[in-house]
Amino acid sequence: MSQGVAREAGCPYERPIAVSEVDTLVWHAVGSAADAPDGTLRRVDAAGRAVCLGRVDGAWVAFDDTCTHQECPLSDGELDGTVVVCPCHGSEFDLRTGDVLTPPALDPLPIYETRIADGVLEVRLSPPPAAAQAVHERDDHVPESVARAATVAGPSLEGLTLDDIDLTDLDVWERAVPYDWLTLLRREAPLFWQPEQDGRGFWVLTRYDDIVAVSKDFETYSSEAGGTSLEDLTPEEVEARKSMLDMDPPPHTRLRSLVNKGFTPRVVNTYEERIRAISRGILAQAFESKPDRNGEFDWVEQVASEIPMWVFSEIMGLPVDDRRLLIELGDKLLGNTDPDVVGAENIQELTVRDPSLRLLPFSSPFSLDLIEYGRKLGEARRAEPRDDITTKLVEAEVDGSQLDDREFGVFFILLTTAGNETTRHTISLGLIDLLAHPDEVARLAADPSLASTAADEVLRRAHPVHRFRRTATRDVTLHGRRVKAGDKVTIWYASGNFDEERFADPFRMDVARTPNRHLSFGLGGPHFCLGAHLAKLEVRVWLEEMIPYLQRLELASPPTRLRSNFFNGIKALPVRVVA
Ligand code: HEM
Ligand code: FES
Repeated sequence: MSQGVAREAGCPYERPIAVSEVDTLVWHAVGSAADAPDGTLRRVDAAGRAVCLGRVDGAWVAFDDTCTHQECPLSDGELDGTVVVCPCHGSEFDLRTGDVLTPPALDPLPIYETRIADGVLEVRLSPPPAAAQAVHERDDHVPESVARAATVAGPSLEGLTLDDIDLTDLDVWERAVPYDWLTLLRREAPLFWQPEQDGRGFWVLTRYDDIVAVSKDFETYSSEAGGTSLEDLTPEEVEARKSMLDMDPPPHTRLRSLVNKGFTPRVVNTYEERIRAISRGILAQAFESKPDRNGEFDWVEQVASEIPMWVFSEIMGLPVDDRRLLIELGDKLLGNTDPDVVGAENIQELTVRDPSLRLLPFSSPFSLDLIEYGRKLGEARRAEPRDDITTKLVEAEVDGSQLDDREFGVFFILLTTAGNETTRHTISLGLIDLLAHPDEVARLAADPSLASTAADEVLRRAHPVHRFRRTATRDVTLHGRRVKAGDKVTIWYASGNFDEERFADPFRMDVARTPNRHLSFGLGGPHFCLGAHLAKLEVRVWLEEMIPYLQRLELASPPTRLRSNFFNGIKALPVRVVA
């Protein structure tokens, strides 16, 4: 039997050793069973394995100390009731079953049995009954659902060949997402080379498993080496523009651990009622006072852009008067391939003439305004703390370090853009999808408790981000082809979310779909969307509040799409109130 030891500092990334059969039978003493307050986390050693003890409802629960995502020590995280939150990227595990409640972790956490013998706490490296049952159910669940036959046909591939595909053709993306191309690629060319007119060309990965594998393997597929956008940037430009999205661990882990603290489910959930009040107010106003004489209004302007910006402003504590300005700056920053958004001369053309713009985030002069706004906001909250996420972010501390003013400014720009545009497009694309599926709307209206699974289904189908980019750091062979160090490798969530190998009947809208591990927030890697909880909460609350209105709305004319193969964006969506 081994004696429990206090957690040693500075050993975060050890790979857990396999549990031997004997260790699943033997009880290991891990220290005194003395009381500690609920929420206490303590690292001990059991048979050479790092085990974390958590105090839940006056009892000790034991589980692997090593997060199944990227091996951070959970004993450095937080314990909230029966949920342990990893300090590195915020994965959450249910300590009753070991189930992953929140990615990026994908694999369940091993949970262990505990008992007290003569005042000594003992751990045995086998699962208690509830966790063992969960393992059993997990095994049955996924294969059966994946095997179900499709009832909705995918896009027609008739006459289509790989030679027809050009993912850089923005005319195509402006019309619709080319799901037929993506389906053909998944089937026939899971690793595809896409030449570019104004770039070096890039590799295209379209299968779910490849997307997750690339997201996970940040050492081979770097976000930092060339940034995450498709543009070919010099190292100087990458460095000058980079936010945490364009950093690799370990520097990324430090920043992420700091900002995680503002976006844990515990923090985000406290905003549910305020989010509900905002959504309710915006919907009521749009339906009651915005329609013109024909009963029409623009959904994007009146609802989809309003909800995320008001929610963001509320939780960050921004002054009401600044909100419209921030929407406009965010639009200009992200619509940089769309002349309608940034003016007749689009930003890519501008940068050819003014190369200094390439040193700015999104190559956009508007980014400076946003960084400066964020910097001042952070400064104000440091001086005068309030009950908002901005204050939590500037006060967060990991190993004695905090976000400095510039880091907060750059992070603010990422939040304004990553948080608002994405949710807005989901709410627009989601509405179009719901209007096209009256049966699913009726199902949701009959059982509003489906709002949570419906939110994930809306997020899967109405993915606002088509793809991200990584850069290979070494030569690798993938699907029999050679990817060379320095090559651009793109991962297409727009495709993985419809992968027949991972989703039963993928082209069917199913508001009760479970499981539904979609890729819309990325998955498996250190960059898994920081705002995933907030976004899902917003979409769920919007759906719940939308139920009474859904059957009163129809499309007045086709939507106008953003001219982009990065964002699945809707610029205008004229709708008509019919009753
Ligand atoms: C429907 C809404 C949203 C979608 C689909 C979405 C999607 C994504 C995706 C695909 C990534 C990159 C994942 C990866 O590379 O593995 C990401 C990262 C990120 N998202 Fe979101 N996002 C949404 C909403 C939000 C919101 C509301 C916020 C914040 C308030 C937010 C903040 C961020 C940040 C900060 C990152 C970078 C994280 C990192 O580098 O560690 N997002 N998001
Ligand atoms: S290491 Fe735990 S969430 Fe990433």
